[in-house]
Amino acid sequence: MVQIKDISYTIENRLILDHLNLVVNDGEKIGLVGVNGAGKSTLLRAITGNLELDSGHVQNNGTITYLEQEIKKNIEDNKFDVLSIEEYLVLEKGLDMQPWEISKYLHYMNMDDKVPQNVFGELSGGQKIKIELLAILSQKPDLLVLDEPTNFLDIPTAEWLMRFLSTYPNSVLVVSHDLRLMNRSIDRIWYLNEMTHKVESFNGNYEQFLTFKEKQNEWLVKALKNQEKKVKKMFETASVLAGRKSAKEKIKAAKLLARAKSANAEVKTKMTETGRKSKHMKIAFETGSSSGRNVLNVTGISKSFGSKAVLKNISFSLARSERMIIVGRNGIGKTTLLKILTGKTEQTEGIYKYGHNVDIGYYAQEYDGLDYNKSLIDNFLSDPKAKELGKKRIMQILGGFLFDDDRLDQKVATLSGGEKTRLSLAKLITHNCNTLLLDEPTTYLDPTSQKILLNALKDYTGTVVLVSHVPEFVKEFQPDKVLLLPEEKFTYYEDKYIHRVREE
Ligand SMILES: Nc1ncnc2c1ncn2[C@@H]1O[C@H](COP(=O)(O)OP(=O)(O)OP(=O)(O)O)[C@@H](O)[C@H]1O
Ligand SMILES: [Mg+2]
Repeated sequence: MVQIKDISYTIENRLILDHLNLVVNDGEKIGLVGVNGAGKSTLLRAITGNLELDSGHVQNNGTITYLEQEIKKNIEDNKFDVLSIEEYLVLEKGLDMQPWEISKYLHYMNMDDKVPQNVFGELSGGQKIKIELLAILSQKPDLLVLDEPTNFLDIPTAEWLMRFLSTYPNSVLVVSHDLRLMNRSIDRIWYLNEMTHKVESFNGNYEQFLTFKEKQNEWLVKALKNQEKKVKKMFETASVLAGRKSAKEKIKAAKLLARAKSANAEVKTKMTETGRKSKHMKIAFETGSSSGRNVLNVTGISKSFGSKAVLKNISFSLARSERMIIVGRNGIGKTTLLKILTGKTEQTEGIYKYGHNVDIGYYAQEYDGLDYNKSLIDNFLSDPKAKELGKKRIMQILGGFLFDDDRLDQKVATLSGGEKTRLSLAKLITHNCNTLLLDEPTTYLDPTSQKILLNALKDYTGTVVLVSHVPEFVKEFQPDKVLLLPEEKFTYYEDKYIHRVREE
């Protein structure tokens, strides 16, 4: 159906895609995986005709719709304050949708409190993404291309999307670091290898791919070891022959030696290639000086936007080193609460107070702290707290986040989604805060990097407030306390709340 023929792409002298040949068959559900920055979004842009390639082309005779990765930022930058949801879909997106049809999707996406006549601009970021997704899915294209669609979805909606995709009658190509999606709705994996810049195609879901990949590696190593033995034999025979008197045998020996040498070189190169592993982040959050025992007291905080009440009478308190998780579906006000607690938004009612020597670090969902127009290194040098550390130390930290020295001048706007997350985390680390407020810090991170972040947070001795939609992450993070929204229940965390989140 879609044929990708010999496509290559290089940017700023970095090879991203190397002569790829791929096919998307009718009805196939393909999951595209690879580390952050491998070039997954780049490949999707190529397939959907949004990229000028160095060579090759993409042949396609069906319809394609495409959900971009950083959709949230694009939506928030565009204001459609006056249009209703229906007008947004019909006028702005040019879709032929009836109100009943829109209502049907709103119901699927857990937005029963909304009607097509509600104002689009007043929806939360996550809700706007749902509308965007609705627009893309409702067109029923021959190929659905989705770049990390579950990132900002609450769990019930993500589950609904998984069911939708697995029963979708046409083809699907999806990038996701959400392993539940990759295991349930997928029947083929495309693995974009960041070291070879090639795509390896596997039958099956993500888990099957991992098992197969591991086995494949074992076979390869075994085969190479056998070859090594053969080469050794060749050397031995050559040396025996060389010791003989006859000239004929001496010539034979020389020839064999040459063959052994070249075979040896080949095995050695293949061994190094097979042994080459992806680079992993190396990070640790440190606290500068410790805070007092009381870290945060929140009393009766409420927030309304105009007539719309978002947060109602929230109270809780945190002691040093406590870990709290905020749980609740999209649009309930989790980000708003963190924005109030960091002074970025003002509450309508109530007060909050930080204890002695509390030093807060804030990880914002939409990279509030990054200047897109500046280079990587300038983002640090223009931050007084980071600058104190000196350029050498900053470069060291950036190296730990897999940004080598030759990347320092890259503009932040051109980083991949996961690379932007890594950069924000790097910035947070330079601050050595004793209290962290983290708003979905795993967004866009590949599975390995998520694990590394999790371990760094586990080792962190300060206080943490976390918002996350990733159940596995929350479970492993082992929070002490939980704030359940919308019922404003603040209590000790128990594993049962994970399921409560799923059921919602
Ligand atoms: N203008 C540019 N200059 C330099 N490098 C660039 C530019 N545009 C993109 N890149 C690089 O190309 C690489 C591939 O980016 P891409 O967005 O395709 O990655 P990805 O696999 O989708 O990653 P993620 O999982 O983080 O979304 C990244 O390392 C990115 O920094
Ligand atoms: Mg991407």
